[in-house]
Amino acid sequence: MPDATPATPPRSLSGMQPTSDSLHLGNYLGALVNWVELQERTDAFYFVADLHAQTVPTDPEVIRRRTRVTAAQFIAGGVDPERSALFCQSHVREHTEVAWILACQTGFGEMSRMTQFKDKTTKGQNANVGLFTYPVLMASDILLYRPDFVPVGDDQRQHLEITRDLATRFNSRFGQTFTVPEPYILKESARIMDLQEPQNKMSGSTSPDKGLLLLSDEPSRLAKKVRSAVTDTDGEIRFDPESKAGVSNLLTIHSAMSRRPVAELVAEYAGRGYGDLKKAVAEAVVAAVEPFQARMAELMDDPAELDRILAKGAARATEIARPTRDAVYDAVGVLPAQR
Ligand code: TRP
Repeated sequence: MPDATPATPPRSLSGMQPTSDSLHLGNYLGALVNWVELQERTDAFYFVADLHAQTVPTDPEVIRRRTRVTAAQFIAGGVDPERSALFCQSHVREHTEVAWILACQTGFGEMSRMTQFKDKTTKGQNANVGLFTYPVLMASDILLYRPDFVPVGDDQRQHLEITRDLATRFNSRFGQTFTVPEPYILKESARIMDLQEPQNKMSGSTSPDKGLLLLSDEPSRLAKKVRSAVTDTDGEIRFDPESKAGVSNLLTIHSAMSRRPVAELVAEYAGRGYGDLKKAVAEAVVAAVEPFQARMAELMDDPAELDRILAKGAARATEIARPTRDAVYDAVGVLPAQR
């Protein structure tokens, strides 16, 4: 971390794609909770990666809805738009402008080696060039803000590495322009697994609906999903993610939602049935989700207010992004536009 004088707090930046109609508990505990924590001690920039979402063909109405919902869920989950700049990626055009310049410094070979691209294409996703250059846009997202922290999950590690490579390369070709961001891979505060296949992570793209606890699910639905969670047959409540993945996941969820240590819960439920544990987990989840849903309802009721929040966030983001774009254009020899 660079020396943080009180006058200039460190900066953090992160984004999430609007690829579903609701965040699930894993997104919330894995990412959003960290964003909220970081906004306490950094100058934070959080955005909805709506341009990245274009890499997967989606109905325009659906993308529009999900972009608003995702932004609202950031707020309902604790991102405070008074303290953090909250914006849509597409509203700050410097993201695409600098992405182009970076693309011209990126090797075809190094993009071809990105594992996420290889995974998605071998899984049959019909690859477009946007998907191929996805990491370049992400590098631009990051480098424009010269952040000290880029909180992301482990699945984004390679994207951060290519971002560092591109920044270093650019600086050595054109002179010091970008700050090379330090990786800040989130240690998962809680690893939340699929309720139906507890050996897999809870995932918006691969878990069945019954395996997902969506932040927008009705309380009765959440309770039902918890009740039908897969456990095991030995009937013993203890924490052992290897051999008792289902029960351990329930304990993890309870612990994260009620902020009580797993050991304390194990002691409390020792000798009792899985039914009791599930009932308690359902109650803890519902209690935590209810205020979130109330705030969501208010935000979705007033889309104009949400749009104002996003506009304000974009204006703040532009203040940081524009001078970086100008420096990049200047470094590579693009003539400044006279306006
Ligand atoms: N690729 C990230 C994801 O899918 C989202 C993202 C886009 C991002 N640009 C970013 C995250 C910049 C951090 C910084 O999760």
